[in-house]
Amino acid sequence: MCGIVGYVGPRDAVPVLLEGLGRLEYRGYDSAGLAVVHKPSKGPAELRVRKTPGRVDDLAADLPARFRGSPGIGHTRWATHGEPTAANAHPHTDASGRIAVVHNGIIENADALRAQLTADGVVFASETDTETVAHLVAAAFADGAKDLEEAVRRALHRVVGAYGIAVLDAEHPDRVVVARNGSPVLLGVGDREMFVASDVAAIAGFTRQVVYLDDGELATLTAGGYRTFTLDDRATAKTPSTVDWDVAGAERGDHDHFLAKEIAEQPRAIERTLSGRLEERFSTAHLGGLNMDVREARAFRRVTILGCGSAWFAGELGAQLIEDLARMPAHAEPASEFRYRNPVVEPDTLYVAVSQSGETVDTLAAVQELQRKGARVIGIVNVVGSTIARQVDGGIYLHAGPEMSVASTKSFTSTVVAFALLALHLGRMRDLSPSDGGRIVAGLAALPGQIEQILDDEKRTGVIAAAAAELAPSESVLYIGRRHGWAVAKEGAQKLKEISYCHAEAYAAAELKHGPLALVGPELPTVAVVPDDDLAEKNTSTLAEIRARRGPVVAVGHREIPGAGRTLVVPRSEPELDPVLLSIPLQLLAYHAAVALDRDVDRPRNLAKSVTVE
Ligand code: F6R
Repeated sequence: MCGIVGYVGPRDAVPVLLEGLGRLEYRGYDSAGLAVVHKPSKGPAELRVRKTPGRVDDLAADLPARFRGSPGIGHTRWATHGEPTAANAHPHTDASGRIAVVHNGIIENADALRAQLTADGVVFASETDTETVAHLVAAAFADGAKDLEEAVRRALHRVVGAYGIAVLDAEHPDRVVVARNGSPVLLGVGDREMFVASDVAAIAGFTRQVVYLDDGELATLTAGGYRTFTLDDRATAKTPSTVDWDVAGAERGDHDHFLAKEIAEQPRAIERTLSGRLEERFSTAHLGGLNMDVREARAFRRVTILGCGSAWFAGELGAQLIEDLARMPAHAEPASEFRYRNPVVEPDTLYVAVSQSGETVDTLAAVQELQRKGARVIGIVNVVGSTIARQVDGGIYLHAGPEMSVASTKSFTSTVVAFALLALHLGRMRDLSPSDGGRIVAGLAALPGQIEQILDDEKRTGVIAAAAAELAPSESVLYIGRRHGWAVAKEGAQKLKEISYCHAEAYAAAELKHGPLALVGPELPTVAVVPDDDLAEKNTSTLAEIRARRGPVVAVGHREIPGAGRTLVVPRSEPELDPVLLSIPLQLLAYHAAVALDRDVDRPRNLAKSVTVE
């Protein structure tokens, strides 16, 4: 959710922090702030803090020309405790203004800590849970902590909850102390300088050498390097690894929005997901990252898929692919529900966690719960080295490249493609025939070119943009589909509501008659997913029922659909893979509707890219 960044070294920290925050802003954009240690030529070092509601650009514009210093920490906030005001923005300081803290996560016992500190005479300046940490560190010094590390350790012993934090102390002006428990923290190792961030995007422009902290770990960063240790001050051994980060992939380039760029990138993203994994000779997929031999893979009887939001919907399509191709019972459910319902965990079930960011806390918690109960969990993850990627027992990286827009697009379609590879792999060691395997291999290989065709057609005709302009003024839009089309409809509705703020609801087409048809009329448009399959006739009769009630219809299908005011036509793939292509016009529909409504397409209100709090 929130993004944290820090720097220790010879440079002025301010430009480094602003660049890092700019790249982290997709994690939260309610407010932003910086703290640096200013070392005057005479006299003691002092903290300088600047924070503002709004965006990183607002913060940069608000900085006085002489606001300089090092080390420094910065934060971009997604509000949990307290409104997005300057007072609630991070960094938070103790009463003396010596200690500054930035935090990502939630301190669960913040109310109790606030009450104790208030009873001790502390006056709070904000409504946040984070401010308690600044006061706890100061209290630890007052109680005799000899250095910043000890003060932070003592403070964190009193804290219950999830945190990634960075702490600055004007009286230890050569260091930043950081800690992780449930919220990501990684260190960047430079040449006589060190960085810290909640996300590799923030520091990839400065260094590719990173160290991932584990839960319960702290680190001291100085210009000369880092030391990692536990809350009980036991040293831990960590070696840096090199991250591969596509800097151009994280830039908007010539596109008006990251979302437009990421929709356009889907052919290349899918090529990368497929790269080196299709085995034409045996009509199967090679997935070395699963860390699973044939005997183990054959022993699974069922597949359960877990993810949140669009990752869950991609998982629903994945479950259908696995049932269709591998003939194994498979289902997907939201990780946020699964983690709390004490599910029956079976040894012959393969569990698959899906996450673009690899940081979603509900998905991570589901993985940890499963592993505690002895389950085998694999991941389908985009961000290399992310927490879920490191937690699972094997998996498939999407290699879709950085996804900067809050709404997922290329990670959604790449995930469905990764599931097709998994289904093919599992199917070919069961009863999927070589000819059906070959059909899927060819279908997958053709997808990038077919997506290119949809994008080119739209550039030429503008049909989807025109349909979006008609839909945009609606208060509500119904999305319907059957079988695979229903999951496609769910994702289409999700895209429209999150970036245009237009209410949208997805329904299984056959369920309309059981309730929602009561809503249908001239004011409620329907977006119908109508592939040219064995259910096409059933779909057209549903559309006739809608038209009979004068409900406007936009269809997505393989040919003009009778009864639809407009049809957004896509090329035909193999029936199992059609959902990938049918999803593209729905992404564009949501994008153009959001643009028509002048929404903040890449940073929709109230949302953040990585949901690292419950
Ligand atoms: C919607 C969207 C979210 C994410 C969800 C899970 O466009 O992006 O619904 O899919 O928050 O995120 P990850 O995949 O990072 O676990």
